[in-house]
Amino acid sequence: MTSREIRKAFLEYFRSKNHTIVPSSSLIPENDPTLLFTTAGMVQFKQFYSRVVEPPFPCAATVQKCLRAGGKSSDLENVGKTPRHHTFFEMLGNFSFGDYFKKEAIEYAYEFVTKVVKIPQEKLWVSVYENDDEAYELWQKIGGFSPERIVRLGKKDNWWGPAGDEGACGPCSEIYIDLRDVIEYPPCDEEKPGPCDGFLEFWNLVFNQYNQDLSGQLHPLEYTGIDTGMGLERLTMILQGKKSVYETDIFEPIIKKALKISGLKYEGKNRVPINVIADHARAVTFVLSEGVFPTNEGRGYVLRHILRRAIRYGKMMGLDKPFFYQMVEPVVEAMGDFYPEIKEHAAMAEKVIYSEEEAFFKTLNRGLEKLQDFIQEMREAGQATLSGEKIFMLYDSLGFPLDFVQEVAVDEGFGLDMEGFQQRMEEQKKRARANWKGEGFDFRILQGIVQETEYVGEDLYECEAKVTKLIKNGQLVESVSENDDIIVITDRTPFYGEKGGQVGDQGVFEHRGSRVVIQDTKVYEKTILHYGRVLNGTLEVGDTCLLRVDVEKKQATARHHTATHLIHKALRLFFGDHVRQAGSYVSPVSLRFDFTHPQALTKEEIERVEAEVNRIILENRPVHRHIMSREEALKMDAMAIFEEKYGEVVRVIEVEGFSRELCGGTHVYRTGDIGLVKIISESSVSAGTRRIEAVAGMRSLELFQTLFYRSKELAMILTAEEDRIIDRVKELQQQLKDQEKAILENKKNLAWFQIEEELANQPAGKPVFIMKRMDIDQEALLGVVDTFKAKVKEGVILLFRVSDDSKIQIVCGVTPNLTTRLKANEVVKKAASQLGGGGGGRPDMAQAGGKDVSRLGEVMEAMANEIRTLLGV
Ligand code: GLY
Repeated sequence: MTSREIRKAFLEYFRSKNHTIVPSSSLIPENDPTLLFTTAGMVQFKQFYSRVVEPPFPCAATVQKCLRAGGKSSDLENVGKTPRHHTFFEMLGNFSFGDYFKKEAIEYAYEFVTKVVKIPQEKLWVSVYENDDEAYELWQKIGGFSPERIVRLGKKDNWWGPAGDEGACGPCSEIYIDLRDVIEYPPCDEEKPGPCDGFLEFWNLVFNQYNQDLSGQLHPLEYTGIDTGMGLERLTMILQGKKSVYETDIFEPIIKKALKISGLKYEGKNRVPINVIADHARAVTFVLSEGVFPTNEGRGYVLRHILRRAIRYGKMMGLDKPFFYQMVEPVVEAMGDFYPEIKEHAAMAEKVIYSEEEAFFKTLNRGLEKLQDFIQEMREAGQATLSGEKIFMLYDSLGFPLDFVQEVAVDEGFGLDMEGFQQRMEEQKKRARANWKGEGFDFRILQGIVQETEYVGEDLYECEAKVTKLIKNGQLVESVSENDDIIVITDRTPFYGEKGGQVGDQGVFEHRGSRVVIQDTKVYEKTILHYGRVLNGTLEVGDTCLLRVDVEKKQATARHHTATHLIHKALRLFFGDHVRQAGSYVSPVSLRFDFTHPQALTKEEIERVEAEVNRIILENRPVHRHIMSREEALKMDAMAIFEEKYGEVVRVIEVEGFSRELCGGTHVYRTGDIGLVKIISESSVSAGTRRIEAVAGMRSLELFQTLFYRSKELAMILTAEEDRIIDRVKELQQQLKDQEKAILENKKNLAWFQIEEELANQPAGKPVFIMKRMDIDQEALLGVVDTFKAKVKEGVILLFRVSDDSKIQIVCGVTPNLTTRLKANEVVKKAASQLGGGGGGRPDMAQAGGKDVSRLGEVMEAMANEIRTLLGV
């Protein structure tokens, strides 16, 4: 049977059993943020089992396109190496939503397998969940299976957990075929399904009895259901009598093309890379057709990872320029009839793959070129071993994969000084250690006992990793439990450790039921330390955890980081090369960028920088990562921060056609990923250094929303149209000023009124002398003195005021014709000196202050006597 006929036969069979035939849903699950890709046929029906959505039909059958890569359902590492694993595959499935259950599910499966596609019963084995006696008996009854051909398997094999973080789940039962006489498989002790790879599992029947919620709790389903999954590729392999899925008609044109491109024969160790390329060609073509592009975000990240894996395998086969884009064509040829979407997007897919390949090949070729130089040198010098120093340079500086170094050197007949390489690694650790400034924890306990952590966060947001060290209360421990504050070290991690101004990632570690919340990540030498708290359960050294980065935060950080580069470049473009980075801080919340520049930026200058940065963003330019020597980078005019310690080889982040900057941080893959960048402040850090703070992505949206609603609210409060808020505020300010002025006039008038009363009682023909304590407004007090001088022909006025905070103010006015006899500045000075203060002014007008209110009466009296005597009044 051809694969086309098998698809048809499956659907026809279930149509005859009253199933509704439903088309495959997208590879991107709808409304399920917990799932990266569609991993099984049941994904599109998840909400029918829980009855969140009422099922429109009681049962259904599909041929579903699936992808198992990235996230917890990933088969990526096995792909190409086994006869049966894929990233992308098609799943045949039948589903019941409260209609039929175990008995019918087993009957249908048995009938289809033995009657429709006619697999001999004696080749079949089945498994049931360890305590599922009902399924056990049904298989005996319906299929006539003897007890030795029914195996009981545990949770690992025969329990379907939810697709994503929640959903329908339950025990399952699997159908196996004995292929021990067909395929090659590793020797096994027990020759039965489970431990032995000679048995191929090809159909999984899930008996959905529970709904698992986000916290992991199981709730019995009101309507039990059936969810089955049978890999089309595996069934085809069986029916076509092939040794592997890659030998079926499904893969024929794809493998043929891979062989043509590589010039290899499909035999021996060539099979693995050819299989990988064939599998990944399907995955990449399908994912691209769904509108997902290679990025550093979620699905785009998984896509990029698969693509690069294919390129690496291509490189191993001797391909050293873009080739993988040509694999779209045979995928379309093999599957385009059934899946027209891949036909429609083929040209686009080729273009995207080509540009990704070009960039990645550059990195790989640079390493290879250097290695060839080394080999040439060694030949000339008659050396037989590649030195540790050279291996280290290729690995650490050029980012050239170690297995490539080994493979090429051995192929060329050279040995490798791996010991010397390890020694270099140690030395580098020591150097890094010397630069390490730890906080709150004595990192010396880690010296010599921790390994480099493999950072996979450039390609993945989550991965499985083994716990290698646990630290609690500053001590190494073997296990930790609930509420412990801990530091966890793992063999690999997608968490970025704080460095280069970029904050550490946050997220969660999961291990069975245990959860550790990671609040911060730091780096010690080349080891990544996760700082967290055990939320529940326990964790032990050696446990394998699922490490999940808080994707939203990481993406927000990447946006702010690339935005920092754009701002840096725009500043240099507009203001000149004197602009240099003097510090930066990049977090999910905002970015801060300090730079050398002599003066504050004007509003227009800030707007110009913003406009330029956002123009580059809207052009959606690619952001490339390059690894090169420091000299090369500087020759390319990459902006470098000279204070930072980089190795001989550096990573350059290039925003195509705009900026190049040395940087080891996390970045977006296209400028469009950044969203709007808005500068929120510009200030001084120190003489000659300015600071810009800015936000990007969702933070810009939040800022915009806040301002938007604030402006609406203001308009309401001010009862003005929104575009008149400013005018309205100015009007109100003017009104306030006018009113204050009127109030002051009133106060002055009132105060003068009191003086006028005294003037009326002055003896005629003599200079006027008025002395008074008036605890009124300061301005009113000065106003009184001014009026006195304007109205009185000859006289002296001396006023005292005690403020609310018990400070004394002294003001004296002398008409010009008296200043030869008495000077205002001398009067206030004298009074103030006696009241514990000081002051001065002109001979006709002076002010001073004092503190000692207790002496005020006495001083006033003395001053009055003195002045009266002097004036003869
Ligand atoms: N949902 C059943 C399976 O994929 O095996």
